[in-house]
Amino acid sequence: KILILDFGSQVTQLIARRVREAHVYCELHPFDMSIDDIKAFNPKGIILSGGPNSVYESDYQATAELFKLGIPVLGICYGMQFMAQTLGGKVESGDKREFGYAEIQARHHSKLFEGLQDRVDDAGNGYLDVWMSHGDKVTALPEGFKVIAETPSCPVAAMADEARHFYAVQFHPEVTHTKRGSEMIHRFVLHVCDATPSWTMPNYIDEAIKKIREQVGDEEVILGLSGGVDSSVAAALIHRAIGDQLTCVFVDHGLLRLNEGDMVMDMFARNMGVKVIRVDATEQFMGKLAGVTDPEKKRKIIGGEFVEVFQQESGKLTTAKWLAQGTIYPDVIESAGAKTGKAHAIKSHHNVGGLPDDMNLKLLEPLRELFKDEVRQLGVALGLPHEMVYRHPFPGPGLGVRILGEVKMEYADLLRRADAIFIEELRNTVDEKTGKTWYDLTSQAFAVFLPVKSVGVMGDGRTYDYVVALRAVVTSDFMTAHWAELPYSLLGRVSNRIINEVRGLNRVVYDVSGKPPATIEWE
Ligand code: XMP
Repeated sequence: KILILDFGSQVTQLIARRVREAHVYCELHPFDMSIDDIKAFNPKGIILSGGPNSVYESDYQATAELFKLGIPVLGICYGMQFMAQTLGGKVESGDKREFGYAEIQARHHSKLFEGLQDRVDDAGNGYLDVWMSHGDKVTALPEGFKVIAETPSCPVAAMADEARHFYAVQFHPEVTHTKRGSEMIHRFVLHVCDATPSWTMPNYIDEAIKKIREQVGDEEVILGLSGGVDSSVAAALIHRAIGDQLTCVFVDHGLLRLNEGDMVMDMFARNMGVKVIRVDATEQFMGKLAGVTDPEKKRKIIGGEFVEVFQQESGKLTTAKWLAQGTIYPDVIESAGAKTGKAHAIKSHHNVGGLPDDMNLKLLEPLRELFKDEVRQLGVALGLPHEMVYRHPFPGPGLGVRILGEVKMEYADLLRRADAIFIEELRNTVDEKTGKTWYDLTSQAFAVFLPVKSVGVMGDGRTYDYVVALRAVVTSDFMTAHWAELPYSLLGRVSNRIINEVRGLNRVVYDVSGKPPATIEWE
């Protein structure tokens, strides 16, 4: 396994993704992990991430002892500067920030770039396209190091001490803009560190099942099933491991999408034979939400009520000793950015399913080590339907934050139907250029209920009805997003169908705001 020390770069998680793509297990830890913990982790190699600071003025320092362990180290951007400074080289601030594409020339034969080039010139020199983003640069090499790549503006674009297996690059091999970047990381992990590529889904399933059985023994487990990808995959995995020792509780708060409750019951209870208790708590939730218009208050009420209902139901299962959750790796990672406490909360993002730890149950989290796309691969490998596993994300408070202002059942019912039409058309419309459906070409799409009425005309009559807005975005991380450029013909069809099929709605608008400045959800 490989250890990644995070110095706070926005893209550190991508390093982990690239390592895992080489089928090697890795973990991300904060930069200040102690040398004892590093030794206990016993990595085959260490990767030092990039970060937003300057090495000579920041307290973002990892232990220098890690260079004495006799294991390979790869430094990326800030990680390179940290390596250079710690081992006796020199780092200075550049006169200008370098940001964007660059072409590096490989200078010496090195294990990192062996066989990799995007272009060869007449003299036989090899070049690679890379993505640079840095202000500081290494100006003097530590002892034992050689320059292994350069650019006109960055004479030490990469350096290595091959005897000690230390490598460092000023650019970012983990981002896709660096064309051969993932191969570089794979070369480091497989050829320099000599790690075994044994991290594969079938292996993972076998091991995970074994581990769940060992952990749980013959005790019983409860799991809050939401119908989302994570809890569904967790349920399928745990069920495969311990069968009827698992009971799922599915709380319907009345703010789910059309037919969602029935679909969850069909898939898990009927098809897979999982024990699922379905709780219809619609009235209870609606009662609590009556008269409440503030988005944050609505989130708190829905989150709190969910815990209440779940505890009531699970309290009836007196024999259960374990609470299973679909926690995934990005939820677990303590990011270097979070350490600075600078993260600014725009929305509280109450995750329905986030349960209190005072339930006196032991926690079972079999997906704790997996990234989202690994969770999806696992879901498919466990036999869950592709459409289910590759679904757009759906917020915990559900339609509660897609009905602006006060939530009423009448509004939720109108919205559910409009939303189902939109999603159906996205799934059924194929883009000719890419051959993909518009559902797959968008990252998240849904309808939003606006509690205002506008005038329309239908046949000979005047209508005075509600408005829905359609929202579809393209994003890779949901931190920023573009509105999706859906074809007019598709938008037209959706609008016609909604107005014709959903009595009570007479106007459809399309949201063309990016994030920022807007957010993806309207509340
Ligand atoms: P925003 O609206 O903040 O959304 O741009 C970013 C992503 O987060 C989802 N979201 C939530 N998910 N509970 C959740 O579980 C929430 O309260 C919540 N609010 C927003 C949103 O759907 C999008 O994917």
